Amino acid sequence: MSCSNPLKPFSLFLVIFFLAPLFLTGCNKPPPESQGSISVEYTERTIDLYSSSCSTCHESSATGAPQTGDSLAWQPRIDKGMDALLENAINGFSGMPPLGLCMECTKDDFEALIQYMASEQLSNPV
Ligand code: HEC
Repeated sequence: MSCSNPLKPFSLFLVIFFLAPLFLTGCNKPPPESQGSISVEYTERTIDLYSSSCSTCHESSATGAPQTGDSLAWQPRIDKGMDALLENAINGFSGMPPLGLCMECTKDDFEALIQYMASEQLSNPV
């Protein structure tokens, strides 16, 4: 009667098969932090200003405003460049009223607010 286990070579193969990726991935560098999309820098002040001004329209699709977190709607606008967006937000643009009705917003606030609204991660948390 033989004691050899016919599965032994196979299980050794399995061990190598499953362990190999551990060694291989150890050499990989972590992916870069940002992939060239919109960088999100905003504070509690941004969120307060957003809730008291911009959210009225930018959370109601009936207004025709690009909706917060809808990165598809924001992409063509982001493509115009931040300077153009700031100018349109401050001076008004079609249905968008001057300053977005936020009298206390500074230029920096607008930049943060635009990043906040254009960022997908916020309304679709992982
Ligand atoms: C009274 C409604 C209303 C409010 C309040 C409002 N928006 Fe808008 N916003 C709009 C509409 C409508 C558009 C789309 C205009 C268009 O493309 O015809 C828009 C577009 C924009 C755009 C894109 C402009 C472009 O060049 O494409 C930016 C940036 C923007 N809003 C920022 C803000 C910010 C920041 C606030 C808050 C401070 C704000 N909005 C508040 C209605 C509003």
